[in-house]
Amino acid sequence: MDNSIREKFKVLFGKECDVYASSGRINLIGEHTDYNGGYVLPGAIDKCIMAGIAPNGTDKVKVFSIDYNEYAEFGLEEKDAPAQQWAKYIFGVCRETLKRGGKVEGFSAVFCGNIPLGAGLSSSAALESTFAYALNQIYGNGFDLFQLAKIGQATEHNYCGVKCGIMDQFASCFGKAGYLIRLNCKTLEYQYFPFSCEGYKLVLLDTCVKHELASSAYNKRRESCEKALEAIQQRHPDTETLSDAKRIWLEEVKAEIAEEDYLRAIHVIGEVQRVLDLCDALERKDFETVGELMYQTHFSLSRFYEVSCEELDFLNRVARKCDVTGSRVMGGGFGGCTINLVKEELYDQFLKTAIDLFTKRFGHAPKIYEVVSSDGARKL
Ligand code: GLA
Repeated sequence: MDNSIREKFKVLFGKECDVYASSGRINLIGEHTDYNGGYVLPGAIDKCIMAGIAPNGTDKVKVFSIDYNEYAEFGLEEKDAPAQQWAKYIFGVCRETLKRGGKVEGFSAVFCGNIPLGAGLSSSAALESTFAYALNQIYGNGFDLFQLAKIGQATEHNYCGVKCGIMDQFASCFGKAGYLIRLNCKTLEYQYFPFSCEGYKLVLLDTCVKHELASSAYNKRRESCEKALEAIQQRHPDTETLSDAKRIWLEEVKAEIAEEDYLRAIHVIGEVQRVLDLCDALERKDFETVGELMYQTHFSLSRFYEVSCEELDFLNRVARKCDVTGSRVMGGGFGGCTINLVKEELYDQFLKTAIDLFTKRFGHAPKIYEVVSSDGARKL
């Protein structure tokens, strides 16, 4: 991939460039907890966005997307926002860097990627992290990785309309081959966990239902959590985030909040505990418990958070039937992938059954991605 970027860059801009990359992510558990101050357990994978970049001595950003076969050119002031969605991510990163006192001047770039779009693998965070990391290096801004992750997150909030948490950008910046990372999204303390489950495989099954995170559904979930938290804070003023709340406190305010907000909060409060339990089980190499917690998360995301869909629930049931150790919808939801922890000896049969049954039911096969852990943001 990096060679074709270098070649294309030369053809388009007549000079050499440096190449940077950042990865997509998986999340073993901890879904919709990040913007509630809870825990997440993501890791970077071997699918990435790569960009060749070099300053161009003008006040314009000139970018070519190999995958879209499209060119965009824009200035660096707020009024200069480009029309193409993919270019908005890059524009947002430039703007957020500038807002934080960083330097960005005109540059040229060529980029491409192999992260499936809309599959819940955070292709947009990888795009943001690639450019945030590259601009930081090129202009010597000296931001640390957390600041770079926040630049990506703020890009989503302010230029793409998604009020996301920090998980995706954190994973694409901090990822390390061979590790998952448990992040406390309230304190930003994190811990690397060896990503080794001997005798098991992790595999993603992509329903190919494109999730639309930008659609208001994601932001609406976030609002529900805020409403539930406000009600709890009336009685327990020291509760800083929904993740700090106890289930019993939620029951106290049940009659005062909408049924929908109550259901969302059940998920968040339960999920925070599941991350901790899963990490304990991982340390004991108790993969049966790890898997059971994954199934519980799926149930919770489907019933209480209502971010699953027919195709995802179908794959989850097939996994149970095939004695898959753990399975659940991964990422924001509304489509995308399930993540599955499967014993090696059951792996082939599971994939065969899942492909057969899914194709019979929905008329097309799910896509299969074997998970390979990888590094996050880097210069090649
Ligand atoms: C998306 C968001 C993340 C996180 C997940 C759900 O991927 O970008 O911040 O909220 O959904 O866990």
